[in-house]
Amino acid sequence: MAAYSIVLSQKDFVHRDSLAYPFEERGLQFGDGVYEVIRIYQGSYYLLKEHVDRLFRSAEAIKLSLPFTKEEVTQLLVELLEKNDMENDGKVYLQATRGSVKRDHHFPEGIEANFYAYAEDLPRNKVALQEGVKTLTTRDVRWENCYIKSLNLLPNVMAKQEAKEQGCFEAILHIDGLVTECSSSNIYLIKDGKIYTFPATKRILHGCVRMRVEEFAHKLNIPFVEEAFTLEDIETADELFLTSSTTEIMPIVEVDGKQVSDGSPGPLTKQLHAAYEDDAKITAEDRVTQMA
Ligand code: PDD
Repeated sequence: MAAYSIVLSQKDFVHRDSLAYPFEERGLQFGDGVYEVIRIYQGSYYLLKEHVDRLFRSAEAIKLSLPFTKEEVTQLLVELLEKNDMENDGKVYLQATRGSVKRDHHFPEGIEANFYAYAEDLPRNKVALQEGVKTLTTRDVRWENCYIKSLNLLPNVMAKQEAKEQGCFEAILHIDGLVTECSSSNIYLIKDGKIYTFPATKRILHGCVRMRVEEFAHKLNIPFVEEAFTLEDIETADELFLTSSTTEIMPIVEVDGKQVSDGSPGPLTKQLHAAYEDDAKITAEDRVTQMA
């Protein structure tokens, strides 16, 4: 199956090999654009509306006018999967940049945004979802507007690379000891039956899965407290987990070489992940949690 061979460029579908952007592309030269990563399970989108809504919020925040309506983007994204005969678990990456124009920091009026998206296979990381992952902590040196899903990801890239070099799955970011999120995911701490996570301010990306976690918590009667926790709090946490469209609800079992609690995924994390698998309509044989 050839997922990823047909890409969406502006409103056209073209073969990926025929796609070429000019050197003077504001996404390349300034990181002047926004993006989304959307999960696909068995050929269907999960949380598509949430991602399209956030794309438009991010674009508005950087004064980028997209060449489509939300309905058109949605329609084009659905067509993208059809054109690729996408039937597997996967993801779509989409990116909108300010366009291609002679380099100048300010943006000229009237240039058309560049828009493209591609689909690719992405199997679920079942072993990690069952066993949990190792992480490390590092300073959050990003800008103040992390709620914009902007293309300026160098600090995120450096943090994730540091994690990789230390044999970790993810880097936990903190500002003066207050934990914000991770390099490409949101993070949550469970203590005495309550979930704590950094509030949805400008300092973090408002994750689509994070929104769902809040709903699952309400349904499961687990208090969801939007209050920052500290690096010190992690030492006495009962459970810790992270979320994103690509990683689902992933247990964290180690931080900076120290076990979280007893070093295995905790019961509330498992319950939340079971709710996720229900919501995403993961088939019985593909689940890592027991059916309720
Ligand atoms: N990242 N925080 C950051 C910094 C992220 O980059 C992401 C997603 C999230 C979680 O958002 P969501 O639940 O909407 O996926 C939080 C994507 C997966 C990426 O950049 O690849």
